[in-house]
Amino acid sequence: MIKKVTVKTIKRMKESGEKFTMLTAYDYSTAKYLDEAGIDMLLVGDSVAMVILGYENTNAVGMEEMTIFTKAVVKGAKRAMVVADMPFMSYHTDIPTAIKNCGEMIKIGANAVKIEGCNDHIIELVKRLTECGIPVVGHLGFTPQSQNLLGGFVVQGKNIETTKQICEQVKKLEEAGAFTVVLELVPEESAKYIHERVNVPLIGIGAGRYCDGQVLVCDDLFGKFSDFKPKFARRYADMQALITECATKYNEDVKNGNFPNDEEVFHLSCEDAQSLLEGEKECCYTK
Ligand code: KIV
Repeated sequence: MIKKVTVKTIKRMKESGEKFTMLTAYDYSTAKYLDEAGIDMLLVGDSVAMVILGYENTNAVGMEEMTIFTKAVVKGAKRAMVVADMPFMSYHTDIPTAIKNCGEMIKIGANAVKIEGCNDHIIELVKRLTECGIPVVGHLGFTPQSQNLLGGFVVQGKNIETTKQICEQVKKLEEAGAFTVVLELVPEESAKYIHERVNVPLIGIGAGRYCDGQVLVCDDLFGKFSDFKPKFARRYADMQALITECATKYNEDVKNGNFPNDEEVFHLSCEDAQSLLEGEKECCYTK
């Protein structure tokens, strides 16, 4: 019996000082492999917009697309907690609509939702979702859904004042009920300052070594997404080269007549083959 990672597991790991891992996942097979590898949390990130759908930014996906990808990841995850990233504008609406949208993700099998920011609306929403029994992951520092306002992919908390502001925001999310908070694009020293002043587990992405967990976009980890490589990402493989190599060989094999071979085709019985292929001297596969 596989023991599912829950809010309690993450809390326990934080208390014991054990680091936890989160990776994005968007499809069944990848979710299955990441789960089998022991990744604790799978985030169906809105980064799917860029790395899978080829959109320019993460704001282009909606509830319909996120629902499809979340369903696929849920199917593949046996142990890992599945977190559904709530798409742009799905929770910036009135509170009942935001709760309904978040609830949809839980209904299809996600174990938690992630929402960005920390204004009064978000704090109220985190409280209400927690009351409804929906675990919430916060997201602070650089919040990609506000990139038009922030002026692009810009490191946040670059001075004492803004670091203290982010720290206060983390505390507010924690008080409202968020069980963990993603901290994105923050200098390591600022993340350390915040980490020492809050109890809620912090998941870093481009936030240095002092967070309780780390998250990366799986396509960055695999070396599959090649449009750009964020400074904080580490490529553990070169899937772009692997995919290109496979496709090149397949292309050559088909064109040279080397694919399919005899083991890759279906045959009729000898008798049927002979009577069908009238005039043929011998059965094609007894030659
Ligand atoms: O959508 C995403 O992949 C994310 C991570 C960068 C945390 O939000």
